Amino acid sequence: MTQLVHEYRGAKQQQHRRRQIEDVQCLIHSFNKDACTAGNIAEHTATATSETGPPLRGRDAVPASSTLSSMERLRGLKTIWAGIMPALPTIASFPPASRSLPPPGRCQDTARQNSLFTTGGPRYVRSMDLEANLNSLRERIARACDRAGRDPATVTLLPVTKGQPPERILEAARLGLTTFGESKVQELKAKCPLCSNRLRWHMIGHLQTNKCRDAVQLCDAIQSVDSLHLAQEIHKRAEAAAKSMPIFLEVNVAGEASKSGYRPDALLAELPALNSLRRLEIQGLMTVPPWSTDPARSRPFFAQLRELKGRCEVILDAPLPHLSLGMSDDFEVAIEEGSTLIRIGTLLFGPRQHTVQVT
Ligand SMILES: Cc1ncc(COP(=O)(O)O)c(C=O)c1O
Repeated sequence: MTQLVHEYRGAKQQQHRRRQIEDVQCLIHSFNKDACTAGNIAEHTATATSETGPPLRGRDAVPASSTLSSMERLRGLKTIWAGIMPALPTIASFPPASRSLPPPGRCQDTARQNSLFTTGGPRYVRSMDLEANLNSLRERIARACDRAGRDPATVTLLPVTKGQPPERILEAARLGLTTFGESKVQELKAKCPLCSNRLRWHMIGHLQTNKCRDAVQLCDAIQSVDSLHLAQEIHKRAEAAAKSMPIFLEVNVAGEASKSGYRPDALLAELPALNSLRRLEIQGLMTVPPWSTDPARSRPFFAQLRELKGRCEVILDAPLPHLSLGMSDDFEVAIEEGSTLIRIGTLLFGPRQHTVQVT
């Protein structure tokens, strides 16, 4: 067991360093004078530095409003190297990045080519072009709907902005996205004042009862209701605020000890009591299946949730409009299994930052 843990950590470390090298390689390729804008460099820089040294150091070092001169780009690259090098003591010993790099001089296309919008592609987005990511994601949603004989209008995209700074959220808002998913009340509370008040929020992370007042105030839906006790607290806060609160019931279909969520039987048993809380509007079910590199392994869990929704509808004697299934790695399978709401973070925004600067 110890040996396994050791090997796992070693592999993770190597993967992490390889990604850092890929960031720098991408940056070098983006050095073509014709196509590379300051925004591209700044995004590369943010990605490259957020996982290593001082956060956003490179972004600060690069002017972000105009096309960069060669000298400015060179200075930016130097700064990035300075941030990354301490974390790469054995850079020369690493195998070359597996992803083939595009020819230089097509920075925007690089974003498309390097994004993850091909089935079976690399797992982590290095792309700095949110619009390209969104377009590719929509194409993939449409193709999945086509396969499942569904109308794409029946699938709502919930961009997950956990670990993303407010400026990234505003960029997404400029592309027409208006409802976002956040995992932590504290993070949402810090970001909200820095974002447009026209934006809407879904709480998708585990919620503690002492955070319910803020969650009810800030959110338009709470997707992570996993006990009657929590539901009663949300109801109490909604009552005090004289508002109705749309909720989703989170289900731990695989019974993973590390995850929150109702076990299916417990949910069915508590459903009448949940339904009696008149300030709560039960919208549907939500789940996060066990993590796997193979999206197909999520399928049985998604199918189980769809069946459970049917059983809930019988008890409630009313249809439930939503099944919140699918994240970056498995949303296509989720759509095929009936998801009406996919929660996508990494595929749209790239890797999350560990600490989001909101000052
Ligand atoms: C409940 C939930 N849904 C969706 C996501 C988004 O995941 P991904 O970045 O894989 O799209 C997260 C991210 O942590 C999450 O916690």
